[in-house]
Amino acid sequence: MRISPSILAADLTDLKRTLETMDASVVDLLHLDVMDGHFVPQLSFGEAYARSVKAGSAIPLDVHLMVSRPELEIPKYFDLDPYVITYHIEATDFPIRLAQLIRERGLRAGVSLNPGTPIERLAPVLDAVDLVLVMSVEPGFYGQKFIETSYDRVRQLKALIGGRPVEIQIDGGVNDRNIARLGELGVDIAVAGSYCFTGGDVNARVRALKAACSAPV
Ligand code: DX5
Ligand code: ZN
Repeated sequence: MRISPSILAADLTDLKRTLETMDASVVDLLHLDVMDGHFVPQLSFGEAYARSVKAGSAIPLDVHLMVSRPELEIPKYFDLDPYVITYHIEATDFPIRLAQLIRERGLRAGVSLNPGTPIERLAPVLDAVDLVLVMSVEPGFYGQKFIETSYDRVRQLKALIGGRPVEIQIDGGVNDRNIARLGELGVDIAVAGSYCFTGGDVNARVRALKAACSAPV
């Protein structure tokens, strides 16, 4: 299991120091929660802040766009060379075209869905994307409780993906008590915000998640 700490849960006024403490051999990805105050009521940061993060760390970026009109936002992240750019299926009528736009730049395309959106809605999109991000909380804030029906949604998604080379990412309420079960169900990448940034050294927290994952469920 790879771990992608969500910097939304870090002290954003002291990010330079936070980034310096992160060990690129431990932390796999850096999850950036871009929120526009429209697709979700909250507002976080945009590409200018993402550029500073990129300048301060060698860890690949994992861009999660919780925005309306993702077609306008996606190109702003191309030159940051992120691991993946993920948009929400609820925010577009053209999910396949958006995935093509990202892939044409040689980047991985990710699609996300909220807890209330049926998994089947992804069926027509799965051949066009490289990753599906399953929200296990309603998007908007860090620190929410993991929604238990998410296990079943991951199971459904895994079956729908079948043999396609599509990675599964989970986002929201991940901790050392639920990560092993998520790994067993086939999750490849776990985002963790509050777990990574409350409770001491972020590298130690990431290691703890990986250790919990390899323990028997
Ligand atoms: C929610 C964000 C998540 C969040 C995760 O809108 O997409 O990435 O920051 O934080 P935790 O792990 O605390 O739920
Ligand atoms: Zn996120």
